[in-house]
Amino acid sequence: MTVFAIETATRQIEGFDRSRMVIRTFFDEATFTASHVVHDPASRLAAIIDPVLDYDPSSGRTSHGSADAVVDHIRNNDLTVDWLLETHAHADHLTAAPYLQEKVGGKIAIGHLITTVQGVFAKLFNTGDDFRHDGSQFDRLFEDGDQFNIGSVPVIALHVPGHTPADLAYVVGDSVFVGDTLFMPDYGTARCDFPGGDAQALYQSVRRILSLPDHTRLFMCHDYMAEGRDYYAWESTVAEEREHNIHVHQGVTEKEFVAMRTTRDRTLDMPRLILPSVQVNMRAGFFPEAEDNGTRYLKIPLDVL
Ligand SMILES: [Fe+2]
Repeated sequence: MTVFAIETATRQIEGFDRSRMVIRTFFDEATFTASHVVHDPASRLAAIIDPVLDYDPSSGRTSHGSADAVVDHIRNNDLTVDWLLETHAHADHLTAAPYLQEKVGGKIAIGHLITTVQGVFAKLFNTGDDFRHDGSQFDRLFEDGDQFNIGSVPVIALHVPGHTPADLAYVVGDSVFVGDTLFMPDYGTARCDFPGGDAQALYQSVRRILSLPDHTRLFMCHDYMAEGRDYYAWESTVAEEREHNIHVHQGVTEKEFVAMRTTRDRTLDMPRLILPSVQVNMRAGFFPEAEDNGTRYLKIPLDVL
C-alpha cells in the first residue's frame, strides 16, 4: 500500500466541489445491501457500485427487480454507464454487474488481488479447468493508487484488505465508497473470518480511510439497522466514524480491535447466500457454463464451511 495514494486522495477530496457529482443509493432490504450510482452531471457519465442480483435460495431462481430499478434510474436520467465497480467479491449477495453490462454497458472492475480470492474458492468448489483464477472474467483490475474518471469526476482506488484480501474502497470526488470495511458508527465493522480475512489488516485499512479529511463523505455497502435505530442508513463522514464507530473509534488499539473482532466473528453464522454468492461473484457475476441439458448449476460443498 502506498502513502502516495492517501496523499493524492486527500488532495482530491479537499479540492473537489461537491456539486460536480450526483449520488443515488438503492437499498436492498433482502440482503441489506446499499448499491450506489454516481454520475457526473456535466458529461452524464456514470458508475454503478456494488449492484445486486435478486436470488431466491429455496428455488434457485434469479430475478432483476433491484437491477431494473438501477436501469430505470440510468435511462430516466439519460446516463451513460462507464464503470460497474465492485468493492470486493461479496459473500451475502450476487452481483448484477453482467446483467447491467448487457442492459446499459460499462466495464466491470474489482481489486487485482481477486486472483487470490479466486484461487481459494476454486479449491473450495473444485472448479477444474472451466474456471481460470487469473481475474480475466473482469474488464479491469485495480491496484492501490490507480486513478481513473467518471466523466470529469476523479476516482482513486484504495486497497483496503481485511474483510477479504482484495477489498477496494473507491475515492470518488470528495466521497469514499468503503465497501465492507466500515459500517455506520453504531454498527462498527465487517467480519474478517472468511477465507483470507485478517482483522489486523482490516484495522490498518480502516485507519487509512480515517486518515482522510474530517468532512470526507463515506458511503457503506451494507446497513443492518443497529439496535435503537428504526431506519436504514448508509452515509457517514470520517469525523463521525473516528469519533463514534463502536469498533474502531479513535483510541481503540490494534490489539483491542483484533481481540474484539476475532471473538465476535466466532459467534456469527455464515451469511445466508454465501455459497451461491461466492461462486457467482468470483466469476465477476457470470454464471457457470450450462451442462449438456442446458441448465446451469451451483455446487454445495458439504461440511467444509
Ligand atoms: Fe462483504
